[in-house]
Amino acid sequence: MSIMPVKDMFNSSARDSLSRHKPLSVVGICVDDETWRFLQLFAESLAMIQLRLCSGDYRVQDHESVLEYLGDPTPEICLVDFDKDRRSAASVAERIHASAPETAIFAVSHQSQPDSIIEAMRSGCSEYLVKPLNREQLVTAIARVAARRRDKKESSKAQLLGFIGAKGGCGVTTVITQFGALLANSYSRKTLIVDLHPEFGDAALYLGLTKPRYHFFELLENTERMDADFLQSFLMHHSSGLDLIPAPDGSEPPREVIPSAVSQTCGFLRLRYEFVLVDLPPGLNDDNFELLRDCDQLYLVTVAEVSAVRNLVRQIGYLRRKDIAPEKIQVVLNRHQNRSAVTDAQIEKVIGQKIFWRVPNQYAQVMKTIHEGDPVAQLSNSEVARNLNEWAGAIGRKPGTEEKKSGILGLWNR
Ligand SMILES: Nc1ncnc2c1ncn2[C@@H]1O[C@H](COP(=O)(O)OP(=O)(O)OP(=O)(O)O)[C@@H](O)[C@H]1O
Ligand SMILES: [Mg+2]
Repeated sequence: MSIMPVKDMFNSSARDSLSRHKPLSVVGICVDDETWRFLQLFAESLAMIQLRLCSGDYRVQDHESVLEYLGDPTPEICLVDFDKDRRSAASVAERIHASAPETAIFAVSHQSQPDSIIEAMRSGCSEYLVKPLNREQLVTAIARVAARRRDKKESSKAQLLGFIGAKGGCGVTTVITQFGALLANSYSRKTLIVDLHPEFGDAALYLGLTKPRYHFFELLENTERMDADFLQSFLMHHSSGLDLIPAPDGSEPPREVIPSAVSQTCGFLRLRYEFVLVDLPPGLNDDNFELLRDCDQLYLVTVAEVSAVRNLVRQIGYLRRKDIAPEKIQVVLNRHQNRSAVTDAQIEKVIGQKIFWRVPNQYAQVMKTIHEGDPVAQLSNSEVARNLNEWAGAIGRKPGTEEKKSGILGLWNR
């Protein structure tokens, strides 16, 4: 087999993007010497893969030891040579597939008949590479594994949802605390609220959580110490399952914030939750722009008042000028009632988009929920809680699962 300088062959973006990532670890099983030497040269010239070891035996009798000889952590790719003994190769591929589903299995063989390929694919191989190995084919197969891993990593990141008022007092904290508690409780979603007010944030108060030890801005000042244990001391736990990182209580002077530290910290938090909801103070500016840009959705909470709607128009204009994707910007009309001075149609006309969600105007219900600090307990008698539960279900209901009923609603289903 002649070895060409692999670097010269691939100027493509696939090689460039792969070379920026950590090489994928590879274990071989019964791979013939010539193929393994090719892989060694390939690994040296392109830092896409890192060869760990090659076992000379299929070890089909040794049922228990698959994970043991794959090593810990299990490799990203396992190459199984089918030429020495096809049946044993298929059987070992099956066992690897069952015991280490995260490991991609590549079959390698001289045979290229469709039956041989189907047999290998049925035993759990995701790629079939015909000998002598073709570098381009190998790069494509590795790139597919890398892309799947990247997609998986991204999909396991929490959705970051920003809530911001058109002006002060539009109901952001009311909406976010009830929405968060219901997402955590009714839909069993691991949810965190971050109160980003530089002082006097209300989220802890609305959830009945008292005596916070530390606040978000202290977390920001310690980004270099941040790990799962360190984070624990900043979390407040609500009975619904919702977590909160509170804002400062206003007894200390406001701090200067480095915008990149906010988005870096939220990036860290996203790896630990399914939903991270951010209670943002009103006002859009370049200080919180990085965070706004990172959000998967931005909910602009308004009420049907002239001054709020005027600000809303400005906010949408600012976000569009900053190239925030229009589909990320959603308008939530709080305290909605049918007879208001500014109608829904007028609002939609001036903002140039549909109102995404309407939360009913129910002052007594909202005050009761704030007073008791438990949105979940109010589900049966608060129209606002039911409305927000519906919205939480729209984004949080896991496919094929029922909403968990709490309190009196739960008793009905017994
Ligand atoms: N859907 C609603 N129906 C009736 N009253 C509401 C509703 N939502 C919020 N309120 C009331 O509006 C007031 C302001 O709400 P809230 O504190 O949630 O607003 P905010 O946007 O977080 O304010 P701030 O800008 O101070 O952070 C509260 O008294 C709350 O009870
Ligand atoms: Mg608030």
